Amino acid sequence: MLSGRTNVNKFLIEEQRRNPALAGDFSMLISDVVRSCKAIAQGVSRGSLADVLGDAGRDNVQGEAQKKLDVLANQAFIRHCEWGGHLAAMASEEMEDIYHIPPENPRGQYLLVFDPLDGSSNIDVNLSVGSIFSVLRYPEDRQGAEPTTDDFLQPGACQVAAGYALYGPSTMLVLTVGNGTQGFTLDRNIGEFLLTHPNLAISPETREFAINASNERFWEAPIQRYVSECLAGKSGVREKDFNMRWVASMVAEVHRILMRGGVFMYPRDSKDMSKPGRLRLMYEASPMAMIVAQAGGLASTGDERILDVQPTSLHQRVPVILGSRDEVERIERYHREHATGEDQPFSSPLFSTRTLFRDD
Ligand code: AHG
Ligand code: MN
Ligand code: MN
Repeated sequence: MLSGRTNVNKFLIEEQRRNPALAGDFSMLISDVVRSCKAIAQGVSRGSLADVLGDAGRDNVQGEAQKKLDVLANQAFIRHCEWGGHLAAMASEEMEDIYHIPPENPRGQYLLVFDPLDGSSNIDVNLSVGSIFSVLRYPEDRQGAEPTTDDFLQPGACQVAAGYALYGPSTMLVLTVGNGTQGFTLDRNIGEFLLTHPNLAISPETREFAINASNERFWEAPIQRYVSECLAGKSGVREKDFNMRWVASMVAEVHRILMRGGVFMYPRDSKDMSKPGRLRLMYEASPMAMIVAQAGGLASTGDERILDVQPTSLHQRVPVILGSRDEVERIERYHREHATGEDQPFSSPLFSTRTLFRDD
């Protein structure tokens, strides 16, 4: 039976016809990415039956213990995307250096960056995980030359496409090619992603926030101010009660925000001063920033828009505040007010050394 819904391939071909800037085999490239996600969805859903759970027994470039599924998902992306001739090179959370397309395969005009398995601490407890990807152009003046890490270091605003797969109760693909954000659901009967959530729009207001509250003592002052005001609820300056969520999987958090609004924060903290935040710019923050912006939301470090951040290294970390526009703009304002000292009325002795030692 035909469902009458648009499948992801038809959507991509129509987008490519509409936008001649999507040169070459753009739709074929995204189809390869989609195939990677379907393969990962299959592995994730088999769980213990497929012996894919547990640790791989080594660390990745971030010094984090790799799960078996981190490794398998990374291999799935490489296997599905290296032969089609659409890519000049790839980069991934799980590989220290960029991945060169084998010499026997043709090279293409795009670069692919991905987090093969996001939220992997959830995998052994059978909770939602995902994959995140970002597509950049291989600079025109570099075509024919051997790709280097520098070719990847483009701000998020240069992304041609970004998306994620969410391996939840149903498997979904959320995709933007720069013309809104679309949601597709995997119909396992026919093995295709069908357009179920066209033109997603994030509500500008919310009463829900997501943050790992166990880090509270390490947060920067503007975040402490924002969260304390949410917790104060109706009786505080916000004059409304808030709800809190934390799934520990960015894909799941962003998906919830696309569905019903909210704000997600992994701010800069003082836990480890060598790390300006937990999340990685190129394969977590930037693609999510494009997805959220294309759905009318906003993504910021607190001090600047994530899409404007110029990467300086492949695995660089960045503070992330994203979601409902009004809330993200408020948190940006709190950062400005903190920088100029205008947040003096925020004077609870619990928060920030400056307010503790004020001389008034
Ligand atoms: P990954 O599994 O790719 O390393 O990413 C996990 C990230 C992100 O998805 C999530 O928001 C965050 O780490 C969870 O951090 P906590 O462990 O502090 O909850
Ligand atoms: Mn991740
Ligand atoms: Mn990961």
